[in-house]
Amino acid sequence: MTTISYSAKIPNNVNIDSDTRLQRALEKWQPNFMKWWMEAGPEEFQNDLIYLRTAVSADSSGWAHFDHVKMPDYRWGIFLADPVPGRTIGFGDFLGRPVWQEVPGEFRNQLRRIIVTQGDTEPASVEQQRLLGRTAPSLYDLRNLFQVNVEEGRHLWAMVYLLHSYFGRDGREEAEALLERRSGDPDKPRILGAFNQPIEDWLSFYMFTMFTDRDGKFQLLALAESGFDPLSRTTRFMLTEEAHHMFVGETGVQRVVRRSAELTEQDPNGDARAQGGIDLPAIQKYLNLWFSLSLDLFGGEISNNAADYFAAGLKGRAKEEQYEDHVALSGAYPMEIVEGDRIAPKDVPLRNAMNEIVRDSYVEDCQRAVDKWNRAIADAGPGFRLTLPSRKFHRHIGLYAGAFFDPEGNLLTEEEWTRRRDGWLPSASDFAYVGSLMQPVHEPGKIAQWIAPPRQGINRQPFDFGYVRREV
Ligand SMILES: [Fe+2]
Ligand SMILES: [Fe+2]
Repeated sequence: MTTISYSAKIPNNVNIDSDTRLQRALEKWQPNFMKWWMEAGPEEFQNDLIYLRTAVSADSSGWAHFDHVKMPDYRWGIFLADPVPGRTIGFGDFLGRPVWQEVPGEFRNQLRRIIVTQGDTEPASVEQQRLLGRTAPSLYDLRNLFQVNVEEGRHLWAMVYLLHSYFGRDGREEAEALLERRSGDPDKPRILGAFNQPIEDWLSFYMFTMFTDRDGKFQLLALAESGFDPLSRTTRFMLTEEAHHMFVGETGVQRVVRRSAELTEQDPNGDARAQGGIDLPAIQKYLNLWFSLSLDLFGGEISNNAADYFAAGLKGRAKEEQYEDHVALSGAYPMEIVEGDRIAPKDVPLRNAMNEIVRDSYVEDCQRAVDKWNRAIADAGPGFRLTLPSRKFHRHIGLYAGAFFDPEGNLLTEEEWTRRRDGWLPSASDFAYVGSLMQPVHEPGKIAQWIAPPRQGINRQPFDFGYVRREV
């Protein structure tokens, strides 16, 4: 195990001290990062003591330290998973060759684009969640929000380390640009669509961490396979932190679902809203929205870029070892394309279908969570089932963008889509209703009416623990 230098300005396990040029570049970037954090990070609470975990090593048996810290004092550092001795490229045209420790010249631009695109999502989500602290349903949730935020900040550091270390001047320029774009800003938006959507209520936050952060998990899994070893090692360690973000999203939705089901049962008319809760059909609409926005993040179903990345050994499939054929030059993937007013089958060469194959793994993982939520509903009583909409529904990228589908995947006219839209996606009044429930509950042990408490606290602390403390 590599130990971490905490005496250094920037905690790291990559021996920054030995590289003066890199050290200078990062130390120059650090104050700009702090400026961004204070400007675009969580509003209020920057002077409060938050019960946060900090990465103190990359050792899988114990890498986290928990303590109350002020967010601006969080030690954002650079941690890579330990190298795997003798590691070889696991897929594509270079299958079996030793992994690269330096950027292969012919793939420099592609690799930089992959790193910048991933890096851009990290600060974007912090910006999207900037105001949520004001309306947290409990201190436990408030702490989880900030934990996710500081770690997304660390993931930005992880990508900036790669840009500074391996991409020279244009890497440094990209690192600055990552602090200049802003989520939702019409003049300098973040790169990907879902990262420009506002997150204005906590149901959206749980849906985002469930569905959109989970896209991140699958992108990281695909990058962990990379033949560029520093990228693989960086993303492997990010995945250990990411697991908590998945937990916050999946259990967050589950707790809302459980409470909604209980309130539906309690109300004489089966009306959760009359009991101060969120109705299950509204939860379904939020799910439809965030699932469909997140599906777009995987890119087009048929993609030359994805084929090139795979061929070059830059980006694989999630858990590449689960596949038998790592070259993927033969075989086809059956897809459905839109031809006028009908759907037609089309076989696509496997390498061009890589985005869709990673999307398959993602959908499967989402379905597992939806099944859990449905068990929670069934336990409470109401006869309601949540479902993932068809992956054709409400798409803005790929084969189904520009056409209109219902959640079952039936092709519609635009007119019919417009007429029925508010039955499938949150309407202005759904957002207004959920928004009206967002009243802060910032007292230890208390929780808002519309969500169930968690089964366990963080790091074996009780639910009524002072997860966030105000200094007096
Ligand atoms: Fe992240
Ligand atoms: Fe995340």
